[in-house]
Amino acid sequence: MRSFQWLALASTFVSAGAITPEQLITAPRRDQAVPNPSGEVALFSTSQYSFDTHASSSWWSLLDLNSGKVSRLTNDSSVSEVVWLGSTDSNVLYINNTNAQIPGGVELWISNTEDFDGSYSVQGCISAGFVLWSQDSGTKSGDIHFVVYSQTYGNGTAYNEKLAATPLSSARIYDSIYVRHWDTWLTTTFNAVFSGTLKKKITGQGGKSRFSLTGPLHNLVAGVKNLETPYPPFGDSSDYDLSPNGKWVAFKSKAPELPQANHTASYIYLVPHDGSEKPVAINGPKSPGTPHGVRGDSSSPVFSPDSDQIAYLQMKDIAYEADRRTLYVYTIDSKKTISSLAKNWDRSPSAIKWTPDGQSLILNTEDKARQRLFLLPADAGDDFKPHNFTDGGVVSAYYTLKNGDVLVTGSAIWTSWTVYTANLKKGVTKTLFSANKVDSSLKGLSSSDVDEFHFKGNWTDIHSWIVYPPNFDKAQKYPLLFYIHGGPQGSWADSWSSRWNYKVFADQGYVVVAPNPTGSTGFGDKLTDAIQNNWGSYPYDDLVKCWEHVRDNFDYIDTDHGVAAGASYGGFMINWIQGNPLGRKFKALVSHDGTFVADAKVSTEELWFIEHDFNGTFWANRDNYRRWDPSAPEHIRQFSTPQLIIHSSKDYRLPISEGLSLFNVLQERGVPSRLLNFPDENHWVLNPENSLVWHQQVLGWLNRYSGVEKHNPKAVTLDDTKVPVVDYNP
Ligand SMILES: *[C@@H]1O[C@H](CO)[C@@H](O)[C@H](O)[C@H]1NC(C)=O
Ligand SMILES: *[C@@H]1O[C@H](CO)[C@@H](O)[C@H](O)[C@H]1NC(C)=O
Ligand SMILES: *[C@@H]1O[C@H](CO)[C@@H](O)[C@H](O)[C@H]1NC(C)=O
Ligand SMILES: *[C@@H]1O[C@H](CO)[C@@H](O)[C@H](O)[C@H]1NC(C)=O
Ligand SMILES: *[C@@H]1O[C@H](CO)[C@@H](O)[C@H](O)[C@H]1NC(C)=O
Ligand SMILES: *[C@@H]1O[C@H](CO)[C@@H](O)[C@H](O)[C@H]1NC(C)=O
Ligand SMILES: *[C@@H]1O[C@H](CO)[C@@H](O)[C@H](O)[C@H]1NC(C)=O
Repeated sequence: MRSFQWLALASTFVSAGAITPEQLITAPRRDQAVPNPSGEVALFSTSQYSFDTHASSSWWSLLDLNSGKVSRLTNDSSVSEVVWLGSTDSNVLYINNTNAQIPGGVELWISNTEDFDGSYSVQGCISAGFVLWSQDSGTKSGDIHFVVYSQTYGNGTAYNEKLAATPLSSARIYDSIYVRHWDTWLTTTFNAVFSGTLKKKITGQGGKSRFSLTGPLHNLVAGVKNLETPYPPFGDSSDYDLSPNGKWVAFKSKAPELPQANHTASYIYLVPHDGSEKPVAINGPKSPGTPHGVRGDSSSPVFSPDSDQIAYLQMKDIAYEADRRTLYVYTIDSKKTISSLAKNWDRSPSAIKWTPDGQSLILNTEDKARQRLFLLPADAGDDFKPHNFTDGGVVSAYYTLKNGDVLVTGSAIWTSWTVYTANLKKGVTKTLFSANKVDSSLKGLSSSDVDEFHFKGNWTDIHSWIVYPPNFDKAQKYPLLFYIHGGPQGSWADSWSSRWNYKVFADQGYVVVAPNPTGSTGFGDKLTDAIQNNWGSYPYDDLVKCWEHVRDNFDYIDTDHGVAAGASYGGFMINWIQGNPLGRKFKALVSHDGTFVADAKVSTEELWFIEHDFNGTFWANRDNYRRWDPSAPEHIRQFSTPQLIIHSSKDYRLPISEGLSLFNVLQERGVPSRLLNFPDENHWVLNPENSLVWHQQVLGWLNRYSGVEKHNPKAVTLDDTKVPVVDYNP
């Protein structure tokens, strides 16, 4: 038996530098920094939760791009979606969420950033329901063309929840397979993008411009049945774009001619901003330029600076959500050609920006557990290898500046928000802001908290992060916390998250090991694609090898008191580990929203996912679905490690019955176990009060069985929550 050398560390746990669940949840959460046209300041919004008031507040700020100084723009919570007005450096257009005339409607307002609260003025009312993202494009006449989105009825009229009649019956009736998605039962309303124009009028003194909303908004998707944009639940303003000359709108929609639940196919549509013509798919099955055999998900349409071309990303496979995305460029002329760029590059970018001269494109892509920006010329051939000009962390947003540099917003394992400038040739030039230097709750976090290693996995080298507790000392010993990511096509990245935050777990007194086994993204197609029909084989074997590597190579990690946790596919893997030899290596397990009964997979909403991962339908390929079944008797008989199960009722990806089945089995077999359920949460636990209970239970469970609870007086315990435990044990 190894000695508890880490006991000696108990006193240092107490000292400053550890981030607690409360600090994680109440730290400011900042959104992307968007620069003004001259690149002098950037706008961003912040929200923050308080456990004193049990409420969130939000505000908008300006970041000075020379000094890095931050100043508040407004505290008015009715302000959202603020965008710069193209022609000036200080005028902004925004949505005001209170509409004085129409309940549930919104208003368009313009203000000046130099005196925001003193100079705002209403420009028009929108009777639509909840309108979100907006975007503007200055035209030659000075008019402002904009696009917004809302829920609509099938007839194209915007849906206003506040004004809609409540039906007498709560029944739902379905004739097609898409019944629910993520956390929502599908209804007859759906998302649509609308266009509108603010006409410019010059008024007397000082030549101050006034604008007024002329005419009704145009529903740009209504012309074709079954089109929807942005695509729920995660679609946002990156699903559509307005051309710089204000003439065109491009948007993404799922293929209207295919059943939505068992395909990922989607196309990019082009439509005049004034709504005078129906939208036309530029890369649909019948479009003249469509590349041969490319039928997968399309995304991120972006117009070139001259408005003549549209760059977008598309996958090849018609039903594989993690297929590689290739960059395409469509030319809006009579020839309607589409060319692919750097087609053989083994990376899957997720965002595009043109450089201001239209000669190059900047792509954001996952790359070896980071997200880096890559540059490529607009005429790059198939074998062109784009080069990166940023490095650590992940990039969440980026904008080109007038001087040719790029303003980047991102995060890393050790900071929740960084803003920096990068030069296309020289790389990062200046860090303007890093949250760990500003936010008291993140004080003490630094890049030295994080390291990485590689080990020989089942069939290839595998990467893993390693995250240390505060005051880490290599001469001491800390229990292992083994982190298993979801997907399986996903990764542990160098990013900040308010869920599964590496540092919050490590700071209880663990060394967190977070490997990227077979199935992980960002390391090339081969590693990702090898997961198909291999859910419990290669990745399980990679994880066993990772555990052995840790035991044999890191003296400061105590694997005898190790614990393991994972969510989604990571939850499946925990359930699989429980019924296999690796399960005996851990003192406790936590599975969040994982699958348990192999045959239950067919109750999911995204059939394309299971039909790809198990290579066929539920009836024609049942052996594939059952091959790695944690509920098979021979695996259940091995269950013996204490396990906490978390399963929420609005998780429609993996319905609640999965968590209930697993809990029934663990309890009947007498394995120490607890079920934590949130009736109002989906696949993720987002409500701050629920998130606090989640952290108290998960950390409390791990700390009890690893022994950390006894040795770190500041450790979270299972008793920290005020929620009563239902226990009718005799
Ligand atoms: C916003 O609120 C903060 C904190 O209460 C206060 O310091 C600041 O002066 C306010 N700013 C504006 C522009 O109202
Ligand atoms: C938002 O709209 C309401 C109602 O018209 C108005 O009273 C308020 O001043 C507006 N606030 C801002 C910041 O636009
Ligand atoms: C569209 O349908 C909704 C809901 O049935 C209805 O309230 C609305 O009046 C319709 N709009 C038009 C223009 O017919
Ligand atoms: C998808 O579902 C439709 C029925 O909605 C069915 O006709 C089609 O064969 C299914 N596709 C696959 C690949 O199973
Ligand atoms: C590009 O990425 C590599 C790692 O793949 C890194 O070493 C290098 O510093 C990055 N380049 C720049 C300019 O940041
Ligand atoms: C890879 O994993 C499979 C399934 O667990 C196993 O049969 C095989 O021996 C492993 N291969 C190597 C090289 O470890
Ligand atoms: C998937 O099924 C196809 C055809 O049935 C087969 O050729 C292919 O090898 C299978 N792939 C995997 C990974 O099992």
